[in-house]
Amino acid sequence: MAHAPGPAASSPSEFWEERYTTHRRESGQVWSGEVNAAVAREVEGLTPDTALDLGCGEGGDALWLGAHGWTVTAVDISSTALGVARTRAEQLELDDRIDWIRADLASWNPTVEYDLVTAAFLHSPVELARETILRRAAAAVAPGGTLLVVGHGAFPPGSDHEHDADAPPLPTPDEVLDALELPDGWVVETRAMVDRRATGRDGAEATLTDAVVRVRRA
Ligand SMILES: C[S@@+](CC[C@H](N)C(=O)[O-])C[C@H]1O[C@@H](n2cnc3c(N)ncnc32)[C@H](O)[C@@H]1O
Repeated sequence: MAHAPGPAASSPSEFWEERYTTHRRESGQVWSGEVNAAVAREVEGLTPDTALDLGCGEGGDALWLGAHGWTVTAVDISSTALGVARTRAEQLELDDRIDWIRADLASWNPTVEYDLVTAAFLHSPVELARETILRRAAAAVAPGGTLLVVGHGAFPPGSDHEHDADAPPLPTPDEVLDALELPDGWVVETRAMVDRRATGRDGAEATLTDAVVRVRRA
């Protein structure tokens, strides 16, 4: 049986391509395809305009944003994940609302500002300059716009790092805020650890904790 390359042996692009081609569920997707609960909850009250989704994966959030009136730019390093996302956008007749971009966020720079920038579970067992990417994300928020960062507050059961004592700790909402180094003029609207129930790939129910940060540029 072929084995997945160890994270240390993979570039981010190789690692995520492999993940998206070999870890599919019966649905043909790695993730559920649904919007992340924290994203839906935090975005619901905002007026739809332009949005940027960083590390969009198979597009669960971007498709939901598109369906809720946002014009979305969605970026990911995996062309396989983006292929799944594009197909779903066509099926849902949302393809004119979402621009899918294959890029490595380590070097990709937004060229315009967005009313909403989201980064949901932008975690990786291989190299990822998350703090730099999130600071760049904040810089891409238009005046009056929102940055939403949703991450794991604890390693999910069955994740690559669940039992890995050497894994770097997951940042708390306060640590995410510190890392953003926001200048004056930003309002912290959400900084919270939020529990939710979820069904894992094995069908088992578990309680997961999300670290949620929502900030608004004045
Ligand atoms: C844990 S998944 C989350 C996907 C999606 N946001 C979601 O919530 O379902 C992390 C995503 O980040 C992407 N990613 C990791 N490193 C990246 C990089 N350097 N540039 C762009 N995307 C990256 C991966 O391909 C993957 O789709």
